[in-house]
Amino acid sequence: MKLHINEKTTSSKFLQDILFKSSDSLYKSRSNVPAFFILYIYDMKIIIINGPNLNLLGKRENDIYGNETFNDFFEKLQKKYANQEISYFQSNIEGELIDKIQEVGYGYDGIILNAAAYTHTSVGIADAVRAISTPVVEVHISNTFSREDFRHKSYISPYTKGVIIGFGLQSYELALQSFLK
Ligand code: DQA
Repeated sequence: MKLHINEKTTSSKFLQDILFKSSDSLYKSRSNVPAFFILYIYDMKIIIINGPNLNLLGKRENDIYGNETFNDFFEKLQKKYANQEISYFQSNIEGELIDKIQEVGYGYDGIILNAAAYTHTSVGIADAVRAISTPVVEVHISNTFSREDFRHKSYISPYTKGVIIGFGLQSYELALQSFLK
């Protein structure tokens, strides 16, 4: 099976494992499954990027952020949207978040970004979101507008496709749905 596919499609680690490049722009399938089918079943490539302290979900301020760990939630999300290629990255370090946004920001179909506390402080993350071509949906678990004043400001929102705030972990699922055709 020969297939013309673009850089975006082949930047996926998963697809690289099952497809191989036979010439400049031709890819073949390593498996018995035809390449066109593999590309067909994985509709969109989406990444969730979480900022500082979101690794503590499940044990952090449960009254605000709930009891579920992000990993448990993420596994369920991946199963429910099995046709989408959804990956996850978390860091407590501003520069690492910027590096990841730059890395995925020209090849993915969508970024779901909860920059957590950096939302309210980081011009660097805002500039990264502004620079890339992949659309970003900003999410927050809690309703930041019902909390302290400093959480009302987002440096990131002006450069996003949209913002989903206050629906608990469901905010991520709503953001995902906003990307699906
Ligand atoms: C948060 C809200 C931020 O104000 C806070 O610093 C977080 C989480 C949320 O998802 O509700 O860490 O982004």
